[in-house]
Amino acid sequence: MWTAVNAEFTDEDARRAWAADAVTWGLFAVPDDSLRALGDVDGCDVVELGSGTAYFSAWLARRGARPVAVDVTPAQLATARRCQEHFGLTFPLVEASADDVPLPDDSFDLAVSEYGASVWCDPDRWVAEAARLLRPGGRLVFLTNSVLVSLCVPEQGGYAGEHLQRGQHEVRRVRWPEGGVEFHPSHGDWVRVLRAHGFVVEALHELYAPDDAETHGYYEIVTAEWARQWPVEDLWVASLAHPATDSTAEVTVPWK
Ligand SMILES: C[S@@+](CC[C@H](N)C(=O)[O-])C[C@H]1O[C@@H](n2cnc3c(N)ncnc32)[C@H](O)[C@@H]1O
Repeated sequence: MWTAVNAEFTDEDARRAWAADAVTWGLFAVPDDSLRALGDVDGCDVVELGSGTAYFSAWLARRGARPVAVDVTPAQLATARRCQEHFGLTFPLVEASADDVPLPDDSFDLAVSEYGASVWCDPDRWVAEAARLLRPGGRLVFLTNSVLVSLCVPEQGGYAGEHLQRGQHEVRRVRWPEGGVEFHPSHGDWVRVLRAHGFVVEALHELYAPDDAETHGYYEIVTAEWARQWPVEDLWVASLAHPATDSTAEVTVPWK
């Protein structure tokens, strides 16, 4: 699916994302400076899980981080490579699934995912992998659709409405008609999974559209008006406890 999506975009689209100065989150570009979700990344080893064209890693590299971008789709990484050449900014690009990353244990200070593994991988498996890759005390920061959006978008695509379209358990693992399997755990599910893999939740930022925001021209998920009333995205911040507090807890979430 992501090979097909990649073909819909030009390198110019990817370069536009790469060129942005500020680190922002989500559809309505909420500045990280206003949330401080990432903290100071200067000198940090960062792994991005499901990086796509790797613009988020590029933003972090400009702030002094040493990113490694991991993605399962060769076409996305090929775009990332061309952007690296264009901007003269290189860092490792690794072709792998985010739930099985060929990188050593305890090798990163920060793991990030912006609509990457956070949406497209089995939560239990990729969060376990993030825990393995992080050093003790390392942080995991990830963005995904809000729970409400996943409940309110119409089955055939288009903007979220004001009524629930499905039960919450139906979106834990969901195959949308236009293709792709996504995972949308509830907040309780996320807390259980994070704790089971040794993380302590530091924050859950629920992102809304700013007052002056306009509806996004390409991603038909929510209108700006909707997102001024309800959160469009959830931004989770967790840190790997040292020593792990709850790593033996059984994960009881039925993803399958
Ligand atoms: C929406 S993009 C996210 C990247 C970027 N932040 C963005 O918003 O464009 C989703 C990415 O997740 C990748 N992806 C899907 N399943 C994956 C998996 N199992 N492991 C690693 N990456 C995966 C896709 O290849 C795609 O590049």
